[in-house]
Order: sequence, then C-alpha cells, then structure tokens
Amino acid sequence: MSSPRATRWGILATGGIAKTFVKDVLVDPNTRDVSNVKHVIAAVASSTSEKRAKDFIIDTGCPSMTRAYGSYLELVQDSEVDIVYVATPHSQHYQQSLMCLEAGKHVLCEKPMAVNVQEAEALIAKARSKQLFLMQALWTRYLPVSKYVEDVVKSGAIGTVHRCFADTSIAMHPEKEFASGEHRMVNRDLAGGALLDLGPYSLSWLFQAAKASGAGIDPVTVTAAVKPYQTGVDETTTILVVMPRSAERGGDLHGIATTSMRVSMDPNGIGSAGPCVRIQGEEGEIQVFPPSYRPTKTRLVFADGKVEDKDWLYPGPGKDSGWFNGFGEMNPEGEGHGMFWEADEAAVAMCEGRLEGSRESLDEVVAMMKVMDAATILRFFAQFRMPSLSFMPSKPANYPRHSFLPCP
Ligand SMILES: NC(=O)c1ccc[n+]([C@@H]2O[C@H](COP(=O)([O-])OP(=O)(O)OC[C@H]3O[C@@H](n4cnc5c(N)ncnc54)[C@H](OP(=O)(O)O)[C@@H]3O)[C@@H](O)[C@H]2O)c1
Repeated sequence: MSSPRATRWGILATGGIAKTFVKDVLVDPNTRDVSNVKHVIAAVASSTSEKRAKDFIIDTGCPSMTRAYGSYLELVQDSEVDIVYVATPHSQHYQQSLMCLEAGKHVLCEKPMAVNVQEAEALIAKARSKQLFLMQALWTRYLPVSKYVEDVVKSGAIGTVHRCFADTSIAMHPEKEFASGEHRMVNRDLAGGALLDLGPYSLSWLFQAAKASGAGIDPVTVTAAVKPYQTGVDETTTILVVMPRSAERGGDLHGIATTSMRVSMDPNGIGSAGPCVRIQGEEGEIQVFPPSYRPTKTRLVFADGKVEDKDWLYPGPGKDSGWFNGFGEMNPEGEGHGMFWEADEAAVAMCEGRLEGSRESLDEVVAMMKVMDAATILRFFAQFRMPSLSFMPSKPANYPRHSFLPCP
C-alpha cells in the first residue's frame, strides 16, 4: 500500500472557525477511513501579530515546526504551502482568495466565498486561468449525512420531489451579544447579517435537493422578504425560489430557504422543534434535524406509514480524549466536529488534479450567490412596501461589491 500523500495547509486568520478547522484537520484521517491523504498544518498567519499566530499554533496542538507569520502576505509567499484555508470575515474573502491565487496557491475559502456574483465569478475566472483548485468551504456538503440525503432523493424512494424547505436560524440575541455593533455578524463593513452567514446552509440543502431530483440550478424566479437589523444588515431573510425542471420529470420545483439571527431552528438545543430541512416527494419525505450545518439525525417518512430514523455520529479521537472542537466546547464522546471531510475532499482533489469540489461545483456557488444577490436587491425595494416582489436572476446584479444597501 502506498503511503498517504501529504497536503501542506496554510491557515489564513486565527479566529473561531480557523481554530475549529485546524483542530479537526489534526484528527487522524484513519478515524474516518481515509488512508490516501494526510494533512500537515505547515503555516499559520495572523494579520494582528506573529505572536497571535504562535499562540494559535500552541492552542490548537499543531506540531512545533509549524511556521507562524504576522501577515497574510508572508503566508502566501511560503513555497512550502500547497493550499490556503481562508477564514477571515466574508467581506475579505474575495481580496484574500485572490491574493492566494495570484501567488499560485490552491484555495479553500470559508462560506460565502464572496459577497456577490461579480466577486465569485472573478475568483473562479482567476482560479481557472491559473489551473488552481478553488472550493467554497461549505463543509456540510461533505458530511456523510449530506451524501446519504442526496442518494435517497436520487434513488426515487420518496418519489418525484416537488418542494424543499430548509431553515438555518440561530437566536443570537444581537442587541445583547453584539451590543457594540462591531461583531462580524452585525457589522455592515464586514458584510454581516443572517443571509450571507447562515443562508448558504439553507440554500445548499435546497440546491442539493433540486439537483438530485433533476432540476436545474439556475432558478426561474427568486422572491424574498428581508427584515433589517438596526445596523443595516439583514436579521431575518425568507427566500422562495422556483427551480426549473422539465414537465416530463415533474415540472418546476419550489424551494423555501429561511434564515434568521432572531429566532432559532432548535430553540431548546435538543431537537424538540423537529426537522430544519424537509425534502418532499410524492411518496414521502426526508427530514434533516438541526443543526442544519451539522445534523446528527435524519428521518424518512413514507406515505404508507413507514418511518426510518438514522443517527449520524461524527468520528473523532474518542471518549475521554479531552478533545475540544475549537469553539472551546467538547463534542459528545470526543467526536470530531466534521470539518475534516471538506479538508479530505480538497486534498484528494489536488491529488487527482481536480480543480473544484465534487459535491458543490463552482457554477453552483455562482448560482447560489445570484439568489443571495437577488434577495439583497429585493430588500432594497422592500423599503417601499411593495405588495409582492420577485426577481429574475438570469443577469447578475450590477451593484457595488459590498452588497449591503442602506437601511430604510
Ligand atoms: N464553516 C463553519 O461552520 C463556520 C462557522 C463560523 C464561521 N464561518 C465562516 O468563517 C469566517 C470567519 O468567521 P469566524 O467566526 O472565525 O470569525 P472571527 O472569529 O471573527 O475570526 C475572523 C478572523 O479574521 C481575521 N481578520 C482579518 N481582518 C479582520 C477584521 N477586519 N475584522 C475581524 N477579523 C479580521 C482575524 O484573524 P487574525 O487576527 O489572525 O488575522 C480574526 O480572528 C466567516 O466568513 C464565516 O462565515 C464558518
């Protein structure tokens, strides 16, 4: 058996999710039956200081030879880094991913990969012109549960799918938790708001369901209601999309994607509120239980009365290992958080010479961005209280890169 090929990661930024990602990537790939690749955290960069990068290396348990940099530029100039994980606030993804690509690095960029269609398309064009790998780090897509749900839909077990609901909402109590208005969730300058932060998960479930049931990914129409927060970002966004499908395959499919930082998909944290995703076919439906970004339970409900529940546990170092997930919390039984699967996908793609992820194409990232752009534009019109609004997203919206329009 050949030895696993090493992928040398550069970590760009040292915030909350970078810590979770690195903790996960350091979990032995054999715990999830991956033997053809392994991960090395080669270098970490912080724009704040080199010391912050050094502290991060110690906190996360990276090997002592991991290099620490006090600027992102030094990271992308490191010739022993293969791929950079970009983990800054949304507003900076375009600029920093572009810097990495220009320096010849492959890129795994946190979601959303950009804040509007123009940015996303420009990054994709750059990656393609330089023959570099580029992937949006929508980790949920690479969880085994996600593949299972897709396979159920494709198998026809629930019949022709006509509708999908997907919610990703977390009650964050923004006035209390983000009182200064500086936090990236509510800060307009950092492209805050529920839509760009949580919305990609809802849209991802929707797009996946649509694709698996034979629909196209470029919606026919997008309708949205957007409620603003006091800082000018969106607090609650509700999107209705019509996905195109031929009459022979069942006709158009309706998707309802919702997101909020005011109410929760799982108010008591133990799933009593029921599923956050429902994919509905003529013979039954498949349900995914919260949280939508890291589900641990699915349910199949058939029209004939049969119900099939499945639990989805996450491999990791194991019980009593003392492992924490990077947010400073222990996962049950020392399980990993689940971000290692997207890292595996990037590493395998690079070995195989693929330039994008296998489960969410770059064209899909653009299509999803078009929906979020459309919702943002509709938010602008909503201030005039028009009774009903919809938008045909065939042409990308031509408005400034920073896509947040003034609060009414
Ligand atoms: N996949 C997931 O489950 C998940 C979860 C949470 C967040 N995310 C995504 O990850 C990205 C980062 O989120 P996070 O929660 O890690 O944010 P965070 O804790 O605020 O960290 C962001 C980091 O970016 C760097 N940074 C550079 N310029 C900054 C600026 N102007 N303001 C604030 N930070 C700046 C800082 O690192 P340095 O000082 O080291 O440069 C900072 O620590 C977001 O795009 C978000 O969507 C994904």
